Amino acid sequence: MEQQFNRHRRLRSSASMRSLVRENHLRPEDFIYPLFIYEGENIRNEVSSMPGVFQVSMDNLQAEMEEIVAHGIKSVLLFGIPKTKDACGEQAYHDHGIVQVATRYIKEKFPEIIIVADTCLCEYTDHGHCGVVEGDKVLNDESLELLVRTAVAQAKAGADIIAPSNMMDGFVTAIRAGLDEAGFTEIPVMSYAVKYASAFYGPFREAAEGAPQFGDRKTYQMDPANRMEAFREAESDVAEGADFLIVKPGMPYLDIVRDMKNNFNLPIVIYNVSGEYAMIKAAAQNDWIDERKTVLEMLVGMKRAGADLIITYHAKDACRWLKEEE
Ligand code: PBG
Repeated sequence: MEQQFNRHRRLRSSASMRSLVRENHLRPEDFIYPLFIYEGENIRNEVSSMPGVFQVSMDNLQAEMEEIVAHGIKSVLLFGIPKTKDACGEQAYHDHGIVQVATRYIKEKFPEIIIVADTCLCEYTDHGHCGVVEGDKVLNDESLELLVRTAVAQAKAGADIIAPSNMMDGFVTAIRAGLDEAGFTEIPVMSYAVKYASAFYGPFREAAEGAPQFGDRKTYQMDPANRMEAFREAESDVAEGADFLIVKPGMPYLDIVRDMKNNFNLPIVIYNVSGEYAMIKAAAQNDWIDERKTVLEMLVGMKRAGADLIITYHAKDACRWLKEEE
């Protein structure tokens, strides 16, 4: 009888056969783990909407880092929660700002770990916006100078990668020039090039205590309905000298990740954000989904979509599960 169809199932016939033809893989090196460093003492607060994620003070950082290293994580993304906030976010760029202190410590104790510093002002300003505010406006050019000072302070402290997330226009140009001028020509910029104004950041704003006190971020972060705008943002950042491009959030924006992968030849980073983590955790705690299978499926889906690296709060679990599967 003449064959009328293809037998796709031939390549799915056993675990070994499936493994032979598997196209995408997760590795511990793919993950960047976000850390919330809290200025103060004796703090290890679990974020209520992000079970398993803790704000830690410096005295608890050693234990946290040992756990991270034991899991096989190679890179961390640092956020700081300062004791005091002001209109200009001084603690973001102060030499003794909490992220600078944590960076120096991690660099000394765990020199093999890659430190990515999130460069933004919203955790440090009393109004919670990512730049300088005048009336109800977030000023662009006036904010750039403070971002440059933050990036240079982070690089001075020993950060390996500068990751500006504030979405001011021209931030890559300004930060690149500032880093170069300060002698940090070797430090790459991982730009949050394509960052949408997303409701999925909700739990993060609890974790980082950086919610805007008035208005929203829609004049600087992107409209979730837009795709062409992602190309414009990415093109600018590439032209301005970015070394990595971040797409954020992750799950609802996999089409944009694929667009970026197909059109730009820089490493593409996806940010699997706090709200995505919270949803999976909540469902898993109710036994509505299998956490391990769901997380690994989601993460490999991100790689399949074109992400080279994944910033994720699931990194510890994912590394542990991958080890168990070896
Ligand atoms: C700071 C920043 C935010 C996130 C990362 N950096 C919040 C925001 O822009 O409101 C969100 C991360 C997450 O939700 O996991 N600008």
